Amino acid sequence: MTSRIDALMAQMTIEEKVGQLNVTADMVRPFVPDINPVANEQNAGQVLELIRQGKVGALFNGKGRQGAVALQRVAVEESRLGIPLILAADVIHGMGTVFPIPLGETATFEPDLARRTARATAVEATAAAIHWTFAPAIDVTRDQRWSRGAEGTGEDTLLACRFGAARVQGFQGDDLRREDALLATAKHYVAYGACLAGLDYNTVDIAPQTLQDVHLPPFKAAVDAGVGSIMTAFNDINGVPVSANKPLLTDLLRGAWRFDGVTISDYTSEMELVAHGYAEDMQDAVLKAFMAGLDLSLQSGLYLQHLPSLVRDGRVPMWRLDQAVRRMLELKERTGLLDNPYRSLEMDDVSDACLARHEELARESARRSIVMLKNAGDVLPLARTGQRIALIGPFARDRDNIEGCWTLFGDADRYVSLEEGLRDALGDITQLEIVDGCGMEDAIDGGLALAVQAAQRADVVILAVGEPQRYSGEAQSRIEIVLPAVQQQLADAVAAAGTPVVALVRNGRALALQGGVRDADAVLITWFLGSQTGHAIADVLFGDYSPSGRLPVSFPHASGQQPYYYNHPRTGRPELPEMKEFKTRWREIPHEALYPFGHGLGYGKVDYGPTQVDSAVLRRGESVRVSARVRNLGQRSVEEVVQLYIHDRVASRVRPVRELKGFDKITLAGGESLDVAFLLNESMLEFTGVDGIRRAEGGTFDVWIAPSCTTGEATQVTLD
Ligand code: BGC
Repeated sequence: MTSRIDALMAQMTIEEKVGQLNVTADMVRPFVPDINPVANEQNAGQVLELIRQGKVGALFNGKGRQGAVALQRVAVEESRLGIPLILAADVIHGMGTVFPIPLGETATFEPDLARRTARATAVEATAAAIHWTFAPAIDVTRDQRWSRGAEGTGEDTLLACRFGAARVQGFQGDDLRREDALLATAKHYVAYGACLAGLDYNTVDIAPQTLQDVHLPPFKAAVDAGVGSIMTAFNDINGVPVSANKPLLTDLLRGAWRFDGVTISDYTSEMELVAHGYAEDMQDAVLKAFMAGLDLSLQSGLYLQHLPSLVRDGRVPMWRLDQAVRRMLELKERTGLLDNPYRSLEMDDVSDACLARHEELARESARRSIVMLKNAGDVLPLARTGQRIALIGPFARDRDNIEGCWTLFGDADRYVSLEEGLRDALGDITQLEIVDGCGMEDAIDGGLALAVQAAQRADVVILAVGEPQRYSGEAQSRIEIVLPAVQQQLADAVAAAGTPVVALVRNGRALALQGGVRDADAVLITWFLGSQTGHAIADVLFGDYSPSGRLPVSFPHASGQQPYYYNHPRTGRPELPEMKEFKTRWREIPHEALYPFGHGLGYGKVDYGPTQVDSAVLRRGESVRVSARVRNLGQRSVEEVVQLYIHDRVASRVRPVRELKGFDKITLAGGESLDVAFLLNESMLEFTGVDGIRRAEGGTFDVWIAPSCTTGEATQVTLD
């Protein structure tokens, strides 16, 4: 039987086939120009004409139902074959309601929460006539200078797998044909975060086992979760740009993993093969990318220009064109567009009740993302009354650095600033004095003096400092991962006033905290928390919520440690507890984090009993139960992220000092104890051997159940 897609393809000209592979900017609906310089050279009329000619398969970064219906009508009624468009956009961490940046939300260690925020995002995005998002980013980031770690899940592979899969499930829902299903894109395939020196777009020089064990698993997890598309990264890997990398795009993705969705270039990445010096000219770039397995071209228009002639002169075989077109048409079929081109374009507005639920979820997810690094003398939580509070810093009143990077469609009118959150929470706002002290990057005349005076008058200072939001996101890599100098001066001056300081740090990466921030009495890492920033922070400050976030990235002592990641291989001269010469350390600082991966405090004290195993021997194909008794020594209920780590003692390749293999967020009532258990099996002990094959080697493993990657006493398990 001929399928609908076969029948369609039988009628298509080469140009119409290539047209389906062309994804271009939506110049018809409201558009954000500064993120798409190439598109600024196009106009709505040109785009509409291309659609009429059947030369556009998808549009991106527009929103709005009215315009979408008009666009779809042109595709369906005015193009020869009437194939509907699929409408895409970068909806990364929220639509109108903005959730924390993905890195921040990963600090919750709650993949199911990420699934729920992605679902809410899908509901709002589809109601704004978007079918397809270019998210989630699942790049593992081991160098905090890189600016796009904010979009991902931090430095650990297991977190990237769990959160990536959860976000795919959240965006897409159970049924891709539903009006509120948002097709997901796993990006940026692959090892984009391994760019040398943390410099965005830079070359990736990587060992095959690191690629295989660290960077590829999140993409495999996304494929297993049913992701519909994969975006290729800008970088080369060991000299071969990913957008023309056949072993990665075809052999692995299609062969081994059986991925059946589409691959799409990242914004002209196939064109950039020329700049890389990997292709002679634009035609050569198209030939190399397309034949390597890159199905769709995003924004360059190069497939339109060069694929038809490459097919006609036989350099690109028709089977390959048909393969890519079929994948795109199947995507349109799977998302229900072939049956109903107006899918998601004629929905009702998201109701106020639904928006209110999303705001509640945004607050929930934001407060759960906050990580309390320290709380000396239990300065937190603050009392609501009876204390004079000085809120000092450029983030105090700010409304322009709330949403975080890659928020194209946030409803800024609904954002809650820090000031608003605090005013709302405080019993008596006459106790609150607010002073900016300095700008984000510039001094304010007399600002320091005012800040110091306010600090002296207060019983406690809330110091609101951090990175402006444009320091993270695309092409914003940093040399020094510290606060802007004026803010550091402010922090140091305020600290010298002698009043207890609670530092609220806003950031899109791990920072090397210094001086008055590092030494503050309490430090809360607040990332970019989105719409409900002010309320979420107030919930934690005043103790309505006991912080439960844990670091998904190591906070180093100094910038010069980068790339620093907790699961680094053992060296032959490990750091000793006492500083000694000729060991793996710097002159100035030890080879360790100031605050390690997995660290975070709550308003209570949790005690871990010894790690126990139900068998000291693990037989292949079986599992060992690893458990520990976790006890809340305090009175109030707290949440705890219980973490399972392993270390392979002797192996045919040098192994990481520790690796996260499981985590569980539990709630402990005051005084409560719980046995927390994980099942350890052979597959969790695997790594890529010198022969390129992943397997678990027999031998002894250290195993910890612990509250961070540097704590706990190990027990041992031997794999037979
Ligand atoms: C970014 C992608 C994004 C694309 C489309 C690129 O510059 O790297 O993450 O999806 O633009 O806007």
